[in-house]
Amino acid sequence: MFDRALERLSGDIAIDLGTSSTLVYVQGRGITVEEPSVVAVERSGTSSRVVAVGADAKRMVGRTPEHIQAVRPIREGIIADFELAEVLLRTCVERALGSRPLVKPRMIVCVPVGTTEVERRAIQESARAAGGREVSLVGKSAAAALGAELPIHEATASMVVDIGGGTTEIGLISMGGIVVNASVRAAGDHLDRALVAAIQQQHNTLIGERTAEEIKLRVGAIGGIDDGSQVRVKGRDLGTGIPRDVVISGHEVQAAYTPVLEEVVEGIRRALSRTPPELAADVLDHGLVLCGGGALLRGLPAWLSERTGLPVILAEDPRRCAALGAGALLQDPETLVRVAPA
Ligand SMILES: Nc1ncnc2c1ncn2[C@@H]1O[C@H](COP(=O)(O)OP(=O)(O)O)[C@@H](O)[C@H]1O
Ligand SMILES: [Mg+2]
Repeated sequence: MFDRALERLSGDIAIDLGTSSTLVYVQGRGITVEEPSVVAVERSGTSSRVVAVGADAKRMVGRTPEHIQAVRPIREGIIADFELAEVLLRTCVERALGSRPLVKPRMIVCVPVGTTEVERRAIQESARAAGGREVSLVGKSAAAALGAELPIHEATASMVVDIGGGTTEIGLISMGGIVVNASVRAAGDHLDRALVAAIQQQHNTLIGERTAEEIKLRVGAIGGIDDGSQVRVKGRDLGTGIPRDVVISGHEVQAAYTPVLEEVVEGIRRALSRTPPELAADVLDHGLVLCGGGALLRGLPAWLSERTGLPVILAEDPRRCAALGAGALLQDPETLVRVAPA
């Protein structure tokens, strides 16, 4: 009774603190904040000042004057800059709740499986500093499986592959618990970096990672589709140092992406090889569910299906699965305990 009242006053929240984006789910309201995980900082001498957080800060990536830095505090799914991660977390929580809540909210935070004990404690501390009363951590792939509405409580196995910015999280869940979990450092950012490297090699031209991401969103694909597409981008000629236009074909883009996505395939194979045979048979029958922003790469579900021999289903709202699942856990303490990151 008292707990209920507390809940209403505080608006408990679930957070997907991702390498690329941070999503906040507020109890009773759903996802209210979706921001790029970027903080812009102005440094002068020994002091520094935060000038923007989220979308405004992302616009500054790669185009800030020297004294302003656009920082991504979470790298490869792990907090690389604690101070700024806390700023990001606090700002997103404030935006989600509107004003300072009367009572500190309970918080659930999704973390990749690869995080160490020390890193987890740091995330919990950050969440408390950002105003959390009681902070629980949950494995990102388990949250994503819940968010994708997979039947995780049944005796059948559900496989989920969450392709984010810095990591691909692979999880196999059965009867409400995590059976196999794996994290592969091959995801959206790696596609962008592979493209930067390919253009440098083939055109002797340097483009920024931001530009590489834009190319991915505009013409990015895998599996031989749209091979005739082309895109014109600006880069710096490495010979002359002068900016110039280069035309990149869809074929070149796909060639750059292939080795990165092969690592995802390899990760799925390794996860399956560690899966008990009956559960592996379930995956063969029902397939795997693809989520995370990287799942939206055109042609990916079909390509992955061909490469793994498994049916591949694209989740309905791939970028929001983990946050939705973590949000559902706010009201499901029993499952929350079972999907705690191992
Ligand atoms: N339509 C799209 N096609 C291909 N990649 C996309 C698309 N939309 C987003 N992405 C990529 O998805 C990644 C971010 O996914 P997200 O789930 O938000 O990451 P994280 O959970 O790690 O923060 C980025 O690399 C982004 O470029
Ligand atoms: Mg995500």
